[in-house]
Amino acid sequence: MTTPSLLLADARALPLPDASVDLVVTSPPYWRKRDYGVTGQLGQETTPAAYTAALMDCLTEWWRVLTPTGSVFLNVGDGYHRRALAGIPGRIETAAADAGWLLRNRIIWTKTRGNPDPARDRLTPRHEYVLHLTPSRRYHYDLAGYTQQYGPTSGANPGDVWAINPERGLHTHLAPYPVELARRAILLGCPRTVCTTCGHTPERILAPSGDLDTTRPQARRAMQLAKEAGLTEAHLAAIRATGISDAGKALLTQTGTGRNSAEVQALAAEAKAVLGGYFREFTFGPKVTVSWTDCGHDARRPGRVLDPFSGTGTTGIAAAELDLTYIGADLSAEAHAIATTRLTTPGQTALAA
Ligand SMILES: C[S@@+](CC[C@H](N)C(=O)[O-])C[C@H]1O[C@@H](n2cnc3c(N)ncnc32)[C@H](O)[C@@H]1O
Repeated sequence: MTTPSLLLADARALPLPDASVDLVVTSPPYWRKRDYGVTGQLGQETTPAAYTAALMDCLTEWWRVLTPTGSVFLNVGDGYHRRALAGIPGRIETAAADAGWLLRNRIIWTKTRGNPDPARDRLTPRHEYVLHLTPSRRYHYDLAGYTQQYGPTSGANPGDVWAINPERGLHTHLAPYPVELARRAILLGCPRTVCTTCGHTPERILAPSGDLDTTRPQARRAMQLAKEAGLTEAHLAAIRATGISDAGKALLTQTGTGRNSAEVQALAAEAKAVLGGYFREFTFGPKVTVSWTDCGHDARRPGRVLDPFSGTGTTGIAAAELDLTYIGADLSAEAHAIATTRLTTPGQTALAA
Protein backbone atom coordinates (compact mmCIF):
# COMPACT_ATOMS: atom_id res chain seq x y z
CA MET A 1 0.00 0.00 0.00
CA THR A 2 1.32 3.49 -0.81
CA THR A 3 1.38 5.89 2.15
CA PRO A 4 -1.67 8.17 2.19
CA SER A 5 -1.08 11.93 2.53
CA LEU A 6 -3.47 13.83 4.76
CA LEU A 7 -3.30 17.60 4.27
CA LEU A 8 -4.77 20.16 6.67
CA ALA A 9 -6.00 22.38 3.88
CA ASP A 10 -9.00 24.14 2.36
CA ALA A 11 -10.58 22.31 -0.59
CA ARG A 12 -10.37 25.63 -2.50
CA ALA A 13 -6.60 26.13 -2.02
CA LEU A 14 -4.78 22.81 -2.14
CA PRO A 15 -1.01 22.61 -1.59
CA LEU A 16 -0.69 20.37 -4.66
CA PRO A 17 1.01 20.95 -8.04
CA ASP A 18 -0.98 21.45 -11.23
CA ALA A 19 -2.02 18.23 -13.03
CA SER A 20 -0.95 15.97 -10.16
CA VAL A 21 -4.05 13.86 -9.36
CA ASP A 22 -5.97 11.44 -11.57
CA LEU A 23 -9.37 11.51 -9.91
CA VAL A 24 -11.36 13.48 -7.32
CA VAL A 25 -13.97 11.55 -5.33
CA THR A 26 -15.65 13.56 -2.63
CA SER A 27 -18.66 14.64 -0.63
CA PRO A 28 -18.71 18.26 0.54
CA PRO A 29 -20.63 19.42 3.60
CA TYR A 30 -24.24 19.77 2.47
CA TRP A 31 -25.82 23.20 2.61
CA ARG A 32 -26.68 24.16 6.22
CA LYS A 33 -26.84 20.55 7.29
CA ARG A 34 -23.98 20.21 9.80
CA ASP A 35 -21.57 22.50 11.58
CA TYR A 36 -18.14 20.86 11.44
CA GLY A 37 -16.78 23.47 13.87
CA VAL A 38 -13.78 24.44 11.74
CA THR A 39 -12.81 27.91 10.56
CA GLY A 40 -13.31 28.39 6.83
CA GLN A 41 -15.72 25.47 6.51
CA LEU A 42 -17.99 25.19 3.52
CA GLY A 43 -21.73 24.65 3.94
CA GLN A 44 -22.70 27.52 6.26
CA GLU A 45 -23.38 30.07 3.47
CA THR A 46 -26.61 32.02 3.93
CA THR A 47 -28.11 31.29 0.49
CA PRO A 48 -28.07 28.38 -1.98
CA ALA A 49 -26.44 30.75 -4.50
CA ALA A 50 -23.56 31.52 -2.12
CA TYR A 51 -23.13 27.80 -1.38
CA THR A 52 -23.06 27.02 -5.10
CA ALA A 53 -20.45 29.76 -5.66
CA ALA A 54 -18.27 28.28 -2.89
CA LEU A 55 -18.48 24.84 -4.53
CA MET A 56 -17.57 26.37 -7.86
CA ASP A 57 -14.40 27.77 -6.26
CA CYS A 58 -13.63 24.18 -5.22
CA LEU A 59 -14.25 22.86 -8.74
CA THR A 60 -11.96 25.51 -10.22
CA GLU A 61 -9.18 24.38 -7.87
CA TRP A 62 -9.77 20.69 -8.67
CA TRP A 63 -9.61 21.43 -12.39
CA ARG A 64 -6.13 22.87 -11.76
CA VAL A 65 -4.83 19.81 -9.90
CA LEU A 66 -6.39 17.21 -12.24
CA THR A 67 -4.34 15.53 -14.98
CA PRO A 68 -5.67 16.06 -18.54
CA THR A 69 -7.62 12.77 -18.37
CA GLY A 70 -8.89 13.30 -14.81
CA SER A 71 -12.44 13.75 -13.59
CA VAL A 72 -14.58 14.42 -10.51
CA PHE A 73 -17.23 12.29 -8.79
CA LEU A 74 -19.11 14.71 -6.53
CA ASN A 75 -21.64 13.31 -4.07
CA VAL A 76 -24.26 15.96 -3.26
CA GLY A 77 -27.73 15.89 -1.78
CA ASP A 78 -30.49 18.41 -1.56
CA GLY A 79 -32.08 19.90 1.53
CA TYR A 80 -35.27 21.62 2.66
CA HIS A 81 -35.32 25.36 3.29
CA ARG A 82 -38.57 27.12 4.22
CA ARG A 83 -40.50 23.94 3.38
CA ALA A 84 -39.14 23.71 -0.18
CA LEU A 85 -36.29 21.72 -1.64
CA ALA A 86 -33.40 24.12 -2.28
CA GLY A 87 -32.52 22.49 -5.62
CA ILE A 88 -28.80 22.36 -4.76
CA PRO A 89 -27.70 19.56 -7.16
CA GLY A 90 -29.41 21.29 -10.10
CA ARG A 91 -27.76 24.62 -9.24
CA ILE A 92 -24.35 22.96 -9.12
CA GLU A 93 -24.96 21.22 -12.45
CA THR A 94 -25.92 24.48 -14.15
CA ALA A 95 -23.02 26.48 -12.67
CA ALA A 96 -20.54 23.72 -13.55
CA ALA A 97 -21.80 23.53 -17.14
CA ASP A 98 -21.50 27.33 -17.42
CA ALA A 99 -17.90 27.06 -16.20
CA GLY A 100 -17.05 24.55 -18.94
CA TRP A 101 -17.42 21.24 -17.09
CA LEU A 102 -19.04 18.34 -18.90
CA LEU A 103 -21.68 16.58 -16.82
CA ARG A 104 -21.17 12.98 -17.92
CA ASN A 105 -23.54 11.34 -15.46
CA ARG A 106 -26.02 12.21 -12.77
CA ILE A 107 -25.82 8.97 -10.80
CA ILE A 108 -28.67 8.35 -8.39
CA TRP A 109 -27.52 6.84 -5.10
CA THR A 110 -30.53 5.12 -3.52
CA LYS A 111 -30.83 3.73 -0.02
CA THR A 112 -33.61 1.90 1.72
CA ARG A 113 -32.73 3.27 5.15
CA GLY A 114 -31.46 6.58 6.47
CA ASN A 115 -31.92 9.19 9.16
CA PRO A 116 -35.35 9.32 10.81
CA ASP A 117 -37.49 12.11 9.34
CA PRO A 118 -40.47 13.55 11.26
CA ALA A 119 -42.23 14.88 8.11
CA ARG A 120 -45.90 13.97 7.79
CA ASP A 121 -46.75 15.81 4.58
CA ARG A 122 -44.05 14.56 2.21
CA LEU A 123 -41.95 11.48 1.51
CA THR A 124 -38.61 10.93 3.19
CA PRO A 125 -35.70 11.49 0.77
CA ARG A 126 -33.92 8.20 0.13
CA HIS A 127 -31.60 9.25 -2.65
CA GLU A 128 -28.67 11.54 -3.35
CA TYR A 129 -26.65 12.33 -6.45
CA VAL A 130 -23.14 11.51 -7.55
CA LEU A 131 -22.29 13.96 -10.34
CA HIS A 132 -19.58 12.82 -12.72
CA LEU A 133 -17.91 15.95 -14.11
CA THR A 134 -15.01 16.11 -16.54
CA PRO A 135 -12.97 19.07 -17.79
CA SER A 136 -12.44 17.39 -21.15
CA ARG A 137 -14.14 15.05 -23.62
CA ARG A 138 -11.30 12.59 -23.19
CA TYR A 139 -11.03 11.18 -19.69
CA HIS A 140 -9.98 7.88 -18.17
CA TYR A 141 -12.98 5.56 -17.81
CA ASP A 142 -12.92 1.79 -17.20
CA LEU A 143 -16.51 0.78 -17.90
CA ALA A 144 -15.52 -2.87 -18.56
CA GLY A 145 -13.61 -3.19 -15.27
CA TYR A 146 -16.51 -1.64 -13.38
CA THR A 147 -19.06 -3.84 -15.15
CA GLN A 148 -17.13 -6.98 -14.20
CA GLN A 149 -17.69 -6.10 -10.53
CA TYR A 150 -21.04 -4.32 -10.53
CA GLY A 151 -22.76 -5.24 -13.79
CA PRO A 152 -24.83 -8.11 -15.15
CA THR A 153 -23.05 -11.23 -16.41
CA SER A 154 -24.19 -10.33 -19.93
CA GLY A 155 -21.71 -7.45 -19.80
CA ALA A 156 -24.48 -4.92 -20.49
CA ASN A 157 -24.03 -1.37 -19.18
CA PRO A 158 -24.98 -1.46 -15.46
CA GLY A 159 -26.81 1.88 -15.55
CA ASP A 160 -26.70 5.02 -13.43
CA VAL A 161 -28.52 3.93 -10.27
CA TRP A 162 -26.39 2.84 -7.32
CA ALA A 163 -28.28 1.05 -4.55
CA ILE A 164 -25.96 1.20 -1.55
CA ASN A 165 -27.13 1.32 2.04
CA PRO A 166 -25.25 3.57 4.49
CA GLU A 167 -22.78 1.79 6.76
CA ARG A 168 -23.67 1.96 10.42
CA GLY A 169 -20.81 3.60 12.30
CA LEU A 170 -19.42 5.59 15.15
CA HIS A 171 -18.62 8.79 13.32
CA THR A 172 -22.02 9.78 11.97
CA HIS A 173 -21.36 13.43 12.97
CA LEU A 174 -18.77 13.50 10.16
CA ALA A 175 -21.29 12.13 7.63
CA PRO A 176 -19.15 9.43 6.03
CA TYR A 177 -20.34 7.82 2.81
CA PRO A 178 -20.07 4.04 2.23
CA VAL A 179 -16.73 2.61 1.05
CA GLU A 180 -18.60 1.01 -1.86
CA LEU A 181 -19.63 4.41 -3.21
CA ALA A 182 -16.00 5.54 -3.34
CA ARG A 183 -14.90 2.17 -4.75
CA ARG A 184 -17.37 2.39 -7.63
CA ALA A 185 -16.22 5.89 -8.57
CA ILE A 186 -12.56 4.88 -8.36
CA LEU A 187 -13.06 1.74 -10.45
CA LEU A 188 -14.67 3.86 -13.14
CA GLY A 189 -12.45 6.91 -13.11
CA CYS A 190 -8.96 6.18 -11.77
CA PRO A 191 -6.25 4.50 -13.84
CA ARG A 192 -4.44 1.64 -12.03
CA THR A 193 -1.11 3.03 -13.21
CA VAL A 194 0.14 6.12 -15.03
CA CYS A 195 3.29 6.41 -17.15
CA THR A 196 5.62 8.94 -15.49
CA THR A 197 7.27 9.68 -18.85
CA CYS A 198 4.25 10.53 -21.04
CA GLY A 199 1.18 10.33 -18.75
CA HIS A 200 -0.31 7.37 -20.66
CA THR A 201 -2.98 5.45 -18.74
CA PRO A 202 -3.37 1.84 -19.89
CA GLU A 203 -6.79 1.12 -21.42
CA ARG A 204 -8.28 -2.33 -21.90
CA ILE A 205 -8.31 -3.95 -25.33
CA LEU A 206 -11.52 -5.97 -25.44
CA ALA A 207 -12.66 -8.83 -27.65
CA PRO A 208 -15.89 -10.85 -27.64
CA SER A 209 -15.42 -13.94 -25.48
CA GLY A 210 -17.74 -16.18 -27.46
CA ASP A 211 -19.59 -17.05 -24.21
CA LEU A 212 -23.30 -16.36 -24.20
CA ASP A 213 -25.30 -15.18 -21.23
CA THR A 214 -26.96 -18.48 -20.33
CA THR A 215 -29.47 -16.76 -18.04
CA ARG A 216 -31.25 -15.68 -21.27
CA PRO A 217 -33.62 -18.34 -22.69
CA GLN A 218 -32.94 -16.94 -26.20
CA ALA A 219 -29.22 -17.53 -25.71
CA ARG A 220 -29.78 -21.11 -24.58
CA ARG A 221 -32.00 -21.78 -27.64
CA ALA A 222 -29.37 -20.21 -29.93
CA MET A 223 -26.68 -22.50 -28.48
CA GLN A 224 -28.94 -25.54 -28.92
CA LEU A 225 -29.64 -24.70 -32.58
CA ALA A 226 -25.94 -24.12 -33.27
CA LYS A 227 -25.05 -27.45 -31.69
CA GLU A 228 -27.74 -29.39 -33.58
CA ALA A 229 -26.57 -27.91 -36.89
CA GLY A 230 -22.91 -28.58 -36.08
CA LEU A 231 -21.85 -24.94 -36.42
CA THR A 232 -18.11 -24.56 -35.81
CA GLU A 233 -16.09 -21.97 -33.87
CA ALA A 234 -15.30 -20.46 -37.31
CA HIS A 235 -19.03 -19.93 -37.91
CA LEU A 236 -19.41 -18.21 -34.54
CA ALA A 237 -16.34 -16.03 -35.17
CA ALA A 238 -17.87 -15.09 -38.56
CA ILE A 239 -21.09 -14.03 -36.84
CA ARG A 240 -19.15 -11.83 -34.42
CA ALA A 241 -17.13 -10.36 -37.30
CA THR A 242 -20.17 -9.47 -39.40
CA GLY A 243 -22.24 -8.33 -36.43
CA ILE A 244 -25.87 -7.43 -36.01
CA SER A 245 -26.19 -5.89 -39.47
CA ASP A 246 -26.31 -9.40 -40.95
CA ALA A 247 -29.29 -10.42 -38.84
CA GLY A 248 -33.00 -10.29 -39.58
CA LYS A 249 -34.47 -7.19 -41.18
CA ALA A 250 -31.17 -5.34 -40.88
CA LEU A 251 -29.82 -7.54 -43.66
CA LEU A 252 -32.23 -5.85 -46.06
CA THR A 253 -31.50 -2.30 -44.99
CA GLN A 254 -27.87 -2.11 -43.90
CA THR A 255 -24.66 -2.56 -45.83
CA GLY A 256 -22.15 -3.06 -43.01
CA THR A 257 -21.07 -6.51 -44.19
CA GLY A 258 -18.82 -5.65 -47.09
CA ARG A 259 -15.60 -5.28 -45.12
CA ASN A 260 -15.40 -8.99 -44.27
CA SER A 261 -13.74 -11.52 -46.55
CA ALA A 262 -15.93 -13.62 -48.85
CA GLU A 263 -15.16 -16.67 -46.70
CA VAL A 264 -16.31 -14.95 -43.51
CA GLN A 265 -19.45 -13.69 -45.24
CA ALA A 266 -20.20 -17.21 -46.53
CA LEU A 267 -19.78 -18.74 -43.05
CA ALA A 268 -21.99 -16.03 -41.56
CA ALA A 269 -24.64 -16.72 -44.22
CA GLU A 270 -24.58 -20.47 -43.42
CA ALA A 271 -24.99 -19.71 -39.75
CA LYS A 272 -27.82 -17.28 -40.48
CA ALA A 273 -29.68 -19.94 -42.49
CA VAL A 274 -29.56 -22.28 -39.50
CA LEU A 275 -30.15 -19.80 -36.69
CA GLY A 276 -32.66 -17.37 -38.20
CA GLY A 277 -33.47 -14.66 -35.65
CA TYR A 278 -31.31 -16.38 -33.02
CA PHE A 279 -28.26 -15.28 -35.05
CA ARG A 280 -28.14 -12.03 -33.13
CA GLU A 281 -27.56 -13.84 -29.82
CA PHE A 282 -24.02 -14.58 -30.93
CA THR A 283 -23.29 -10.96 -31.80
CA PHE A 284 -23.38 -9.50 -28.29
CA GLY A 285 -21.70 -11.97 -25.95
CA PRO A 286 -19.74 -10.44 -23.07
CA LYS A 287 -16.32 -9.07 -23.95
CA VAL A 288 -13.10 -10.02 -22.17
CA THR A 289 -9.86 -8.11 -21.70
CA VAL A 290 -7.28 -9.55 -24.10
CA SER A 291 -4.53 -6.97 -23.41
CA TRP A 292 -3.87 -3.35 -22.44
CA THR A 293 -2.71 -0.36 -24.46
CA ASP A 294 0.97 0.37 -23.91
CA CYS A 295 3.06 3.50 -24.54
CA GLY A 296 6.39 1.63 -24.59
CA HIS A 297 7.86 3.36 -21.52
CA ASP A 298 8.71 1.45 -18.34
CA ALA A 299 8.39 3.97 -15.49
CA ARG A 300 4.95 3.92 -13.87
CA ARG A 301 3.29 5.21 -10.73
CA PRO A 302 0.01 4.09 -9.15
CA GLY A 303 -3.07 6.19 -9.93
CA ARG A 304 -3.71 9.06 -7.47
CA VAL A 305 -7.10 9.71 -5.89
CA LEU A 306 -7.85 12.99 -4.09
CA ASP A 307 -10.67 13.60 -1.63
CA PRO A 308 -10.58 17.34 -0.82
CA PHE A 309 -13.26 16.86 1.89
CA SER A 310 -11.56 13.77 3.27
CA GLY A 311 -13.48 13.48 6.58
CA THR A 312 -12.93 10.00 8.03
CA GLY A 313 -10.91 8.94 4.98
CA THR A 314 -13.45 6.61 3.38
CA THR A 315 -12.17 7.41 -0.12
CA GLY A 316 -8.69 6.48 1.14
CA ILE A 317 -9.90 3.06 2.30
CA ALA A 318 -11.27 2.32 -1.18
CA ALA A 319 -8.09 3.66 -2.84
CA ALA A 320 -5.86 1.50 -0.63
CA GLU A 321 -7.90 -1.63 -1.41
CA LEU A 322 -7.16 -1.01 -5.09
CA ASP A 323 -3.43 -0.26 -4.49
CA LEU A 324 -3.80 3.39 -5.44
CA THR A 325 -2.29 6.48 -3.82
CA TYR A 326 -4.60 8.54 -1.62
CA ILE A 327 -4.42 12.25 -0.89
CA GLY A 328 -7.00 13.59 1.56
CA ALA A 329 -7.51 17.25 2.45
CA ASP A 330 -9.69 18.51 5.29
CA LEU A 331 -9.78 21.56 7.56
CA SER A 332 -10.52 19.38 10.59
CA ALA A 333 -7.65 17.87 12.57
CA GLU A 334 -10.22 15.67 14.33
CA ALA A 335 -11.31 14.21 10.97
CA HIS A 336 -7.67 13.53 10.02
CA ALA A 337 -7.06 11.77 13.35
CA ILE A 338 -9.95 9.38 12.61
CA ALA A 339 -8.80 8.93 9.01
CA THR A 340 -5.25 8.15 10.16
CA THR A 341 -6.53 5.41 12.45
CA ARG A 342 -8.74 3.95 9.74
CA LEU A 343 -6.02 4.06 7.11
CA THR A 344 -3.15 2.71 9.16
CA THR A 345 -4.62 0.27 11.67
CA PRO A 346 -5.34 -3.20 10.29
CA GLY A 347 -8.95 -4.16 10.90
CA GLN A 348 -10.00 -0.56 11.54
CA THR A 349 -11.09 0.19 7.99
CA ALA A 350 -14.76 -0.39 8.75
CA LEU A 351 -16.41 2.46 10.58
CA ALA A 352 -18.36 0.19 12.88
CA ALA A 353 -15.30 -0.67 14.99
C1 LIG B 1 -19.44 15.25 4.49
S1 LIG B 1 -17.91 15.29 5.33
C2 LIG B 1 -16.94 14.17 4.36
C3 LIG B 1 -17.13 12.76 4.77
C4 LIG B 1 -16.24 11.80 4.03
N1 LIG B 1 -16.74 11.52 2.68
C5 LIG B 1 -16.13 10.48 4.82
O1 LIG B 1 -16.51 9.44 4.26
O2 LIG B 1 -15.75 10.52 5.98
C6 LIG B 1 -17.27 16.85 4.92
C7 LIG B 1 -15.88 17.16 5.49
O3 LIG B 1 -15.48 18.41 4.89
C8 LIG B 1 -14.67 19.10 5.84
N2 LIG B 1 -14.64 20.51 5.40
C9 LIG B 1 -15.56 21.48 5.55
N3 LIG B 1 -15.20 22.61 4.92
C10 LIG B 1 -14.02 22.35 4.31
C11 LIG B 1 -13.16 23.09 3.46
N4 LIG B 1 -13.44 24.35 3.10
N5 LIG B 1 -12.04 22.47 3.00
C12 LIG B 1 -11.74 21.21 3.35
N6 LIG B 1 -12.52 20.45 4.15
C13 LIG B 1 -13.65 21.01 4.62
C14 LIG B 1 -15.33 18.81 7.15
O4 LIG B 1 -14.40 18.98 8.21
C15 LIG B 1 -15.77 17.35 6.98
O5 LIG B 1 -14.79 16.47 7.48
